[in-house]
Amino acid sequence: MAKLAHAQWSSRMGFVLAAAGSAVGLGNIWRFSYLTGESGGAAFVLVYLACVALVGLPILVAEWMIGRRGQKNPINTMADLATRHGRSRSWALVGISGVLAAFLILSFYSVIGGWSLNYTLGSVMGSFTAQDADASGAAFEGLLGDPETLLIWHTLFMVLVVGIVARGVTKGLEAAARVLMPLLVVLLLILVGYGATSGFFGEAFSFMFSPDWGALDGGVMLAAMGQAFFTLSLGMGIMMAYGSYLGEDVNLLSTARTVIVLDTVIALLAGLAIFPIVFANGLDASSGPGLIFVTLPIAFGNMVGGSLLGLAFFLLLTFAALTSAISLLEPVVETLEERTPLSRLGSTLVGAVAVWLVGIAALLSFNVWADVSILGLNIFDFLDTFTGKVLLPLTGLGAIVFYSRCLEKEEARRELAMDVYDYSLWNLLTKYVAPLGVIVVFLAGFL
Ligand code: PHE
Ligand code: NA
Repeated sequence: MAKLAHAQWSSRMGFVLAAAGSAVGLGNIWRFSYLTGESGGAAFVLVYLACVALVGLPILVAEWMIGRRGQKNPINTMADLATRHGRSRSWALVGISGVLAAFLILSFYSVIGGWSLNYTLGSVMGSFTAQDADASGAAFEGLLGDPETLLIWHTLFMVLVVGIVARGVTKGLEAAARVLMPLLVVLLLILVGYGATSGFFGEAFSFMFSPDWGALDGGVMLAAMGQAFFTLSLGMGIMMAYGSYLGEDVNLLSTARTVIVLDTVIALLAGLAIFPIVFANGLDASSGPGLIFVTLPIAFGNMVGGSLLGLAFFLLLTFAALTSAISLLEPVVETLEERTPLSRLGSTLVGAVAVWLVGIAALLSFNVWADVSILGLNIFDFLDTFTGKVLLPLTGLGAIVFYSRCLEKEEARRELAMDVYDYSLWNLLTKYVAPLGVIVVFLAGFL
């Protein structure tokens, strides 16, 4: 008896760690705060929270359930399940756009992971000591303007990802995540505490939570919804792939809640850490992807024990980015491995080199290719926007529609351990609220 209970605990625990390792990453700290700043604050945050609860939760559960039944890469899983339920094999498109999204996201994710690595080194070298806003801004601009340096760190980040995947040590990382994730939360709390002494905490708090609904438009809503997908690793087949490792005994709903609460808490803490620094130093909240790299060094440069805390913070951020990046590479590798003659190692190398090349285009858009534009955006912004605002919502929509229209209801109800009443609410959420929500926001964002 005791043994069984333990096995069950560790399998659920292992799964939660893997899923949280994918979810918690640069999205929570870097992307959440820069988008919040760029989108004017609270209205964005509240729409994001609503999307997490009403769209993210059902889609997370749906992806896991589809994955648990399909047991293959996202493309084959969708095709097989569709055939099994008498539907068209073109459902595989959901898998294809998911894999494409993972590929494109990893390319620019790795560039930001490189920034995080670079800042880890920066804290070791004491470059943040007594830094003010101007110096911090100039240091960051210096990095952006230097393609060779960006390339070195982007490359190093990809090498770490490939090294970890190729050596199959991802399990070890998950175990480490168990210690490191709580540590990241502690560091964020310290930073929130530092922000609270700045005298601008109140301002930051109302920036994040007291909405000016007038500022809300379709574009902000779509950005918020895209962020909900991005941060929960949804709409990419990643959670689908993870679902295939799920034991029958794991309760999907409570597991989804755990992962979502953790991910959301980390994002909100990051915001509460960053915006007091923004306001205290008269910085521009809407300055874009550099926001955390300009603000946080100011805090580390001016607080007691700041160099050590800065080092710990950027190390932990890099670690969180690595566990997410590994999960992003996985669907690409799995697809190459199962659909081409390449071996596992070959697939990993080919996938990673392709990602690395696209990443180079992304990092050049901060300097020599600054004027190259696709639909009016530079390459980096195009990759970030196209994946977040188009591919992820559409893939997620495909997953939830497939779940609610094609899978067997009664079986799903038992699998979720819901009574008939709860299931009718769940059905409402998965069949109408989530898909219509995605469609409405998507259209609003583009019209
Ligand atoms: N969810 C991760 C984050 O918030 C990023 C990610 C997106 C990872 C998609 C995997 C898939 O940083
Ligand atoms: Na996240």
